Parts: sequence; C-alpha cells; structure tokens
Amino acid sequence: MKRAFVTGITGQDGYYLTRLLLEKGYDVHGIVRRTSSMNRRRIDQLKEEMPESADRITMQYGDVTDAAALIRVVMELEPDEIYNLAAQSHVRVSFDKPGYTQAANAEGCLNLLEAMRLLNQRKPVRFYQASTSEMFGGLPGTVPQSENTRFHPRSPYATAKVAAFHHTVNYREAYGLFACNGILFNHESPLRGENFVTRKITLAAARIKEGMQTDISLGNLDAERDWGYAADYVEAMWMMLQHHEPDDFVIATGESHSVRDFLREAFDRVGLNGEDYVRIDPKYLRPTEVLHLCGDPGKAREVLGWTPKTSFTELVQLMVDHDCELARRERLYQEIGGQLSPGTAS
Ligand code: NAP
Ligand code: GDD
Repeated sequence: MKRAFVTGITGQDGYYLTRLLLEKGYDVHGIVRRTSSMNRRRIDQLKEEMPESADRITMQYGDVTDAAALIRVVMELEPDEIYNLAAQSHVRVSFDKPGYTQAANAEGCLNLLEAMRLLNQRKPVRFYQASTSEMFGGLPGTVPQSENTRFHPRSPYATAKVAAFHHTVNYREAYGLFACNGILFNHESPLRGENFVTRKITLAAARIKEGMQTDISLGNLDAERDWGYAADYVEAMWMMLQHHEPDDFVIATGESHSVRDFLREAFDRVGLNGEDYVRIDPKYLRPTEVLHLCGDPGKAREVLGWTPKTSFTELVQLMVDHDCELARRERLYQEIGGQLSPGTAS
C-alpha cells in the first residue's frame, strides 16, 4: 500500500485529492493547523462519504512554516509521495498579509523540499508543488499561457508562488529529486472557499432565489479566468507523480470567461438576472489585477494523457445546484426555528 503525505489536506483540493488517493488504495496522512475552533469539515464529510476508507486517513498537527516539525513528520512517516497543497491561497488577502504569505507559500515549500531531500537519502520519494497560473500575471498579449510563458507575478501571493516554483525546479536539478510543479489554473467546486468569486456568486444566486439574501457585492467583473473543476485537476496532480520523469505541467481547460459571464450563467440557472442584484464595492478590487488567464494544457494532454472532463456550464450548474440545496435547507431551518422558538409554540 502506498503512503501519501498531503499538506493543505483540509482545503478544497485536499478533499478531492484525498478522495482520489483513497480510491487508489493509498494511506493518506495530512497535517492540520491548530486553531481554536475545529476546521476539518471537508475531511469529516469525506469520512462520512467513504466510511470503509476512513481509517486510511490520519491527521496530525503541523504547519509548513515549522521546518523542524515538518522534517520529523516526513522522516517518521516515510511517504512515497508528498503533495504540498498548503498555502495562504487568497490573492486579495495576500496584499494584507504579505509576510505570512511569503512564509507559508515560499518558505513552506522550501522546508518541505529539505525534508524530502533528507528522506530521499533513505528511500525514493516524489514531490508535487501546487504552483499556479497567478505566476503569469495575465498581461495583455500573453494568452494562452503555457510552460514557456514568462512569469510576471502581480501579488504577494504570486511572487511567493514563483519562489516556490523555482525552489522545486532547483531541488530537482541540484539533487536529482523527483519534484514536479503543477501550474494549475483556477479550479472550483461546491467545496470551494466561500470568499473566492465563483462560490461567492453561486451561494448568492441560490440564497437570493430562496429569499435569504438581497444582493451581492463584487469587485472587478471584467477579469477573465480559465475555470475548471477541482475533481478533474487533482487527477493531473497524481498523474504527474506517476510519470517516469519529473517535470512541470500547465493544467487548464483552454477556455476563459469573465466574472460577468460566470455571474450571468449562475443566475440564469436559478431563473434570475445577475446584473439586477450586483453592487460594485471597491474593497474587492486589488492593487494590481490579473486581467486575463487562459491556459494551454497541450503538454499535459500529450505527455500525461490528461484532459479536463467538465465544461464551464457543467461546472457552474453543479455548483449552483449544490448551493440551492444548501439555501433551501437554510430557509427550512429558519422556518422551523421560527415555529419552535420560545414563546411562539402555543
Ligand atoms: P484552500 O482551500 O485555501 O486550502 C489551503 C490549505 O492550506 C488549507 O488546508 C489550509 O489550512 C492550508 N494551510 C494554509 N496555511 C498553512 C500552513 N501555514 N501550514 C499548513 N497548512 C496551511 O486552497 P485550494 O484551492 O485547495 O488550493 C490548494 C493549493 O493549490 C494552494 O497551494 C493554492 O495556492 C494552489 N492553487 C489553487 C488553485 C485553485 O484555483 N484552487 C489554482 C492554482 C494553485 P486551513 O484549513 O487551516 O486554512
Ligand atoms: N475573491 C473575489 N471576490 N474576487 C472577485 C470579486 C470578489 O468579490 N469580485 C471580482 N473578483 C475577481 C478578482 O478580482 C479576480 O480577478 C477574479 O474575480 C477571481 O478571483 P478569486 O476567485 O479570488 O481567484 P483568483 O483568480 O484571484 O485566485 C485563485 O486562482 C488562482 C489560480 O489562478 C486562487 O485559488 C489562487 O489560490 C489560485 O492560485
């Protein structure tokens, strides 16, 4: 049985990757940050969905900024594969927390590569780094972005990810390690964090339809992204580590849409016109915006045989349908709560 070590296991991709690895028979170990309130709802959901595999998920406290503890964990676990998904992953927030973003996203990767280098002296181990299309910066004239496109990072998030990208390449070249970068374009799901634009929109469409919300505040509606489905993208992560040699791959759909398109498609699904409910709030604008991302996944298709399976419309619909069910339950709960509240029972 293969053993995988996953940082960022409590996040969106952590859920989908762990599910895939369990289906493939892996033992999955992850680190979680100590917080005052528990933050494991996605993994708890996975354990409920796959009860027969729940005992193959093991979690312990850890943080990628804590090099000493990371080295101990990696040397004790002796994983076959390491997936570094941990990051302060919100681009807008990185402007408010540049130092922490650098520590988690760049130094965190370096810490893990050092741990991997030590373990590799004892047994072979493979490493995946969660690199990102944000590294390209989305400047005019750069579309479609491929493995050969020059980086032009436009946020503390992206500059840290560029450093991590180069750390990964350098450890591969300097020490002959099996270390890969997946340069993933935006990927979404019903488990996407609620302050990323897609999920914010699908939740709002569903809640407005159910009368639980009146409007939605957004920033730049003209930015364009290449949006895919997270479940498809974690397969590419795994495929990179099964390939016969380490390399870097762009993972994308090759199609881009504006935030405005996403808004329209999501509200259409619930029979409303999104433009009627949107307010522009400058607090959601970024000091430097990434205007246009659209990836060329040709290398991943040719070398790994990876292709996305879920279209833009299918993605929007599956997210909206999920959030409609959540909003419906929220409304019912409120109604029942109202009936049962003290003083109204009679
Ligand atoms: P996410 O939902 O925000 O999950 C991030 C994960 O990292 C969470 O488990 C978080 O833990 C953990 N984390 C944050 N700081 C940490 C630290 N210092 N030590 C240990 N764990 C830490 O992000 P995601 O969408 O799953 O993305 C996964 C990775 O892919 C990230 O590195 C992201 O930058 C990268 N990426 C994402 C996309 C995308 O479109 N989703 C595209 C390209 C690259 P908590 O639960 O405690 O916060
Ligand atoms: N979050 C957010 N909230 N974004 C908004 C809003 C809003 O209210 N209104 C407009 N946007 C615009 C942003 O300015 C950006 O151009 C676009 O919507 C997408 O924003 P996010 O969903 O926050 O994602 P991101 O593209 O900045 O970053 C995500 O994708 C990267 C890959 O390209 C994150 O998952 C990163 O971790 C990932 O690396």
